[in-house]
Amino acid sequence: MRKLLQSLLNVLVLISLFSAPIHSTLASDFKREVIYQIITDRFFDGSSTNNNPSQSSGLYDATKTNWREYWGGDLAGIQQKISYLAGMGVTAIWISPPVDNLNTNIPDGSGNPTASYHGYQGRDFKRIEEHFGNTSNTWTDFDNLVTAAHQNGIKIIIDFAPNHSTQDNAGEFGALYDNGVLLGNYTNDTNGYFHHNPNISGSGWDDRYQVQYYTLFDLADLNQEHATIDGYLKAAAQLFQQHGVDGFRIDAVKHLTWGWEYSLANSIYSYGDSFLFGEWYQGNTSDPLYHDSYKFANKSGISLLDFPLNTAIRNVFGSNTNFSDIDAVISQEGTNFTWKEDLVTFIDNHDMSRFLSLNNNNNRLHEAIAFTLTSRGIPCIYYGTEQYLHNDTGGGTDPYNRPMMAAFDTNTTAYQVINKLSTLRRNNTALAYGSMAQRWINNDVYIYERKFFGNVVLVAINKNETTGYSISGLNTSLPPGSYSDQLTGTLAGLSITVNSGSGGNNPVNTFTLPAHAVSVWQFTEGSASPQIGSLGPTSGQSGVKVTIGGKNFGTTTGTVKFGTTTATINSWSSTQIVATTPAVTNGNYNLTVTNSGGQVSNGIQYTVLTAKLIPITFTVNNATPTQTGDYIFLTGSTVELGNWSTTWDGAVGPMLTPNYPNWFLVASVPAGQTIQFKFIKIAANGAVTWEAGSNHQYTVPTSGTGFVNVNWQY
Ligand code: NOJ
Ligand code: NOJ
Repeated sequence: MRKLLQSLLNVLVLISLFSAPIHSTLASDFKREVIYQIITDRFFDGSSTNNNPSQSSGLYDATKTNWREYWGGDLAGIQQKISYLAGMGVTAIWISPPVDNLNTNIPDGSGNPTASYHGYQGRDFKRIEEHFGNTSNTWTDFDNLVTAAHQNGIKIIIDFAPNHSTQDNAGEFGALYDNGVLLGNYTNDTNGYFHHNPNISGSGWDDRYQVQYYTLFDLADLNQEHATIDGYLKAAAQLFQQHGVDGFRIDAVKHLTWGWEYSLANSIYSYGDSFLFGEWYQGNTSDPLYHDSYKFANKSGISLLDFPLNTAIRNVFGSNTNFSDIDAVISQEGTNFTWKEDLVTFIDNHDMSRFLSLNNNNNRLHEAIAFTLTSRGIPCIYYGTEQYLHNDTGGGTDPYNRPMMAAFDTNTTAYQVINKLSTLRRNNTALAYGSMAQRWINNDVYIYERKFFGNVVLVAINKNETTGYSISGLNTSLPPGSYSDQLTGTLAGLSITVNSGSGGNNPVNTFTLPAHAVSVWQFTEGSASPQIGSLGPTSGQSGVKVTIGGKNFGTTTGTVKFGTTTATINSWSSTQIVATTPAVTNGNYNLTVTNSGGQVSNGIQYTVLTAKLIPITFTVNNATPTQTGDYIFLTGSTVELGNWSTTWDGAVGPMLTPNYPNWFLVASVPAGQTIQFKFIKIAANGAVTWEAGSNHQYTVPTSGTGFVNVNWQY
């Protein structure tokens, strides 16, 4: 009887194991995912009933010859291809903006009709576009897609574009709707829902005021400092969370009001599990706003698409520049970005030519794919890459980088490589959480090592098309032994033998890396102490749930501490813990995990906010005189205000001065709190000048937005 019960129990355990979701990791620990970017209109036409809806008829081109009209792809189409995506090892899809878009045709310069098939002209952020869902703009098809994706272990990220509504000088003239009810429009903007400034142009692209407050390509620029717009956009994001989305790719983060975005992120994380990353377009780490970009990524709760690395990837694999280009970006960003493993890395996207238009060489594409999937950051593959999709008209830039998906072949080399490396990413924490170190480099060869405690992945790439290289003097942290290629020779990889050395430098026997080869070797350690690799979000007020990713937490619940304070545990598994931010004084805390056996993990910094964040516009009039390179900053009494920091990265700013000598900026500060603050000048040489007098004081409203207007105290 006992035996029978035991075997019944075993069967039950087995059943529950197999019926569990394929992987149930939370979105706030996104580092193990592989993202696939889809332009919904160009992926697959799953339903013909929505191809030419009556409220926006005539925007569909069945012949697919006008590249700027709708071609029929929809949410049902993505749903029908979910197993194709799952089979590739895709664990998250980023879909183009699904919200109700511009209903009218706007002719281009030559009089040809154009439509907002890409989704970046939202008219109603609370409804689903009729070309993608159904002709009543309901959520049904969206919900069906989310359900199917989740059942297949795939997370859903939506592209969210809160910077603007539709074009301001044609079509619907920016008209914005709240679930079908007109809120306002740009041409008769009596409520001040929009900024009415010229287009960003010329040197304005590098000007902090213009990038945030001027108009992006004639798109009606929403005024997020208006409580109605602030509330509308946050409610829309929350509606998508209620409909099951796991994350947001935030469009044009450089062009939204930076300080407001901190409160958007906080609003999303306060509501539930999510992952956020933004599009901060920049060419490289010498961009004039590069410093602003990493300050933003380090503090806002919004990670970024890694544009500097994208440029280097395209240069090295596309234009055959030296591997030092990639190595330099990895190392520069490594010192600047606190949460570098959350950066989203990519080879190409819908705003640039596809890789094969740049260099029509599948070997190089495979090398770039393998690099993206094994280097630091969360890899994102643009739809069709695995089918070698490209159209080179006009150099293959927009709109020719958005062809209709032509095949769904699961046997391509690219499809197989993505699958294998996605599996490795899930199984070896070195890829998700590990450091990245260069181990051997010349113009054509790059050998780098990812390492997370005892877990190691070593990758060797030779991009030379004809010449193999003899690799001697290579050291690794892989323990002594022999290692086979994780790509099983798919890209001409081979086995290596590692000998015993010292100090993490074990010598590898000399070997020849063939032409256009990628080889991947890996090691996972046995039992060890708890290891934290990820926190998400990285800041939050008391009550916000924090996901801790890592390994060796054990199956029995232990403890999580913020500094010395023990937190409430919401869930616990050996690789993922959810804990609640405790009610402690605002500030930075070292977060640690102690397993049930008493072993303590490494610590990771978490910022406890004072309260939920409210965006406040601070203006200081007639500030102390400045010279070129000097800026006015805000600093004050809570962690949100920098805790009286006087450094460029610690204080809030730099402020903006469209009306010199008056300066302003939006800062997200704690709801309901009475804050103390002052303005300071940080001169180009770092010298700090404080305004005189006593501290300014302000009680932050508990909801909406707010405005502070004071004079610099002399
Ligand atoms: C960046 C998007 O990626 C691009 O495709 C779009 O046109 C602009 N933002 C405006 O939303
Ligand atoms: C704050 C407003 O929101 C912004 O639009 C305006 O340009 C500045 N104040 C002017 O100082």
